[in-house]
Amino acid sequence: MCGIIGYTGGGSQTPDGGDVLDVLMTGLSGLEYRGYDSAGVALANSSISVHKRQGEVSALEEALPDGSVDGYAGIGHTRWSTHGPPSDANAHPHTDCSGTVAVVHNGIIENYQVLREELETAGHTFESETDTEVIPHLIEDALEAGADRESAFRRAVNRLEGSYAVAAVFCESETVYAARHESPLVLGIGEDGHYLASDVPAFIEYTDRVIYLDDGEFATVSPSGVVVTDERGTVVETSIETIEWDPEDAGKSGYDHYMLKEIHEQPQAIRKCLRERVNEMAGTITVDDLADLESSGPVQFVACGTSYHAALYGAQMLRKRGISAQCFLASEYDADSIPVGEETLVVGVTQSGETADTMSALRGANRVGATTVALTNVVGSSAARECDHAMYIRAGPEIGVAATKTFATQQVALALFSSVLSGESSQAFVEALRDLPDQVQSVLDNSTAREVARAYEDADAYFFIGRGYNAPVALEGALKMKEITYKHAEGFAAGELKHGPLALVTERTPVFAMVSDDETAAKTLGNVKEVEARDAPVVAITDSRETVERYADFVLEVPETHPALMPILANVQLQLVAYWVANRLGRSIDKPRNLAKSVTVE
Ligand code: M6R
Repeated sequence: MCGIIGYTGGGSQTPDGGDVLDVLMTGLSGLEYRGYDSAGVALANSSISVHKRQGEVSALEEALPDGSVDGYAGIGHTRWSTHGPPSDANAHPHTDCSGTVAVVHNGIIENYQVLREELETAGHTFESETDTEVIPHLIEDALEAGADRESAFRRAVNRLEGSYAVAAVFCESETVYAARHESPLVLGIGEDGHYLASDVPAFIEYTDRVIYLDDGEFATVSPSGVVVTDERGTVVETSIETIEWDPEDAGKSGYDHYMLKEIHEQPQAIRKCLRERVNEMAGTITVDDLADLESSGPVQFVACGTSYHAALYGAQMLRKRGISAQCFLASEYDADSIPVGEETLVVGVTQSGETADTMSALRGANRVGATTVALTNVVGSSAARECDHAMYIRAGPEIGVAATKTFATQQVALALFSSVLSGESSQAFVEALRDLPDQVQSVLDNSTAREVARAYEDADAYFFIGRGYNAPVALEGALKMKEITYKHAEGFAAGELKHGPLALVTERTPVFAMVSDDETAAKTLGNVKEVEARDAPVVAITDSRETVERYADFVLEVPETHPALMPILANVQLQLVAYWVANRLGRSIDKPRNLAKSVTVE
C-alpha cells in the first residue's frame, strides 16, 4: 500500500556517480510491488521540484524532463489509491501553498477531513483529493508560526490520527524528515549517503545496513548521519542490522516476470527454510526461533489471503497431532468477543509482517494476554517486533504481487511448527521433508502446465477441489488464478461441490482436482466423477496417475511423498497453470490490477 523512498547524500552526486534522482527512481522500481497507480519524486534545492504522473514508475520515467534534475536530497512515492482516484494531481509528493516543503505518505490519515476544513478556513488551497495533502499545509502553518523545520514536521505529525509512514524535504535543506505509526519505515545507512524507505529492496543496491523504526519514532536523516527520536523528542538508541539479501535476489535473473522467477526459486527457498531445523540422522525437528516458546493451550491462527490458506494447512497439521487449532481471517478476528486469553497461542501468518488486518488481530491478542507468534518472511517487520516470538520462513525477497515461494515456505514452516509444538515427528516425515526441494524441482522440470493453460485459456471459469491437506491448496489455486488472470475461479473442499457449486459446472468450466494417494482418494475420485458426468474438463493433480487417469483430460503429476507434503507439490502445478494462462492472456502478471503486495490498510 504505497511505497516511499528518501535519500540524502550531501550533494547531487551519489556514491556510484549518479544523481539523487537515480537513487529515487531505483528505489521506486524496488517498491512498485506496494502500489503502482501513480508515482512521483520531489527534489530539494533552492526550491522544490516535483515530478509526478498517473501510472507505473515507467510513466514517470518518461515524463521526467531531459537532462539531470538536481537536488541535495529527495523523496519519492509509488501509490495504491485510498483517497481520490489515480491521477497526476493525486499522485505524491504533495506540497504546501508556498512550495517550501514536499511530503510523501503511506497509510491513512483518519482525521484528514477535519484538518482539511480547518486549513481551508485558514486560507490554504488544496490541489488534490488525498488525505496526505493536509501534512504539508500543517507544516507550512507551523513554519509560519516560527517553528524550525524539525519542530514544524513534528508538530504536523503529532496532529495526525491513523496510520502513516511519512517523509518530507524542504527547499534549501539537505535533510529528510520522517516518522512512522503503523506503516513500515526502514533507514538505510550508506557510506556516502543515507536512505529511508518502506522496505529494504528500495535501497539494497546501495547498502545492506539498516535501522528499523518503531511506531511513534521520528528520524532526521542528513548527510552526516541519522538521529532517531521518540514522540517526546528524546533521542532513541538504535542498532544497525545487516540484511543478508543479495541485491541480485531482488532482480528478475532473466525470467520474464518476477512471479515465474519466484516459482522457480521454491526448491532453494524450501532448502533454506529447512536448514539446521531438520536433523535427518536423529529424525528430529528443532526450530531455534521458537526455543523459548512454551505452550500447551489451544492455537489460533490469524492471516489474510494466501497466508490464510497456509494457516488452514497449519491448523490441520496441528489438529492431526492432537492440538486444538482454529483459523481466523484476520479482518474478522475480534479478541474481545471470542474465547482467547493467556492460555491461547495466537499465530499471525504474514509474509510481509505488515498486513494491517493481521497486525490488528495480533495487537488484539497481545492486549488480552495471549502468547503471540509471527510466522513471517521479514526480519524487523512489525509482526516480528510486536509478537512474543517470531519464526522466519526464509523465502528471500518476493516482488511479484502474487505470493508463490512465500506460500510454499509458509507451509513448510508450519509443518515444522506443528512438529515442534506437538513434539511429534517421524523418521518418514523428516525424510520426506529432506526430499521435498528436489521433488519441487522435478515438478518444475517436468510440468506440462503450459499445455493445460493453452487448452483452457478461454474457459468461462475455473474450479479447484481438494480434500484434507489439499483443501487449502484448492482455495489457493483459485486465488492465484483469479488474481493474475482476472478470470472467475473458485476453490472448494471437494465434498462441498455437490452442495451447490456443482450447478455452475459445465463443459466450459475446467475442474482442477487434487487426488492424493491416501485415505481421501476414493471420496475425491467420487467428486471427480460427478464433474466428469457433467462434461466438465478435468485436470487431475496427483501422485497416483493410474487412480485418476481415465477420468481426467489432463494429468499433472507430482512425485509421491508424505500425504502432508503433497499439497506443496500440487500447488507448484497450480501456480504454473495460473502463470501460463495469465501470460497467454497478456495480463500484468507481477502487478495485477487493483492489487498491492503489502496491504497496510484495514
Ligand atoms: O503479507 P501477508 O502474507 O500478510 O499478505 C496477506 C495477503 O495480502 C497476501 O497473502 C495476498 O493474498 C497474496 N499476495 C496473494 O497472492
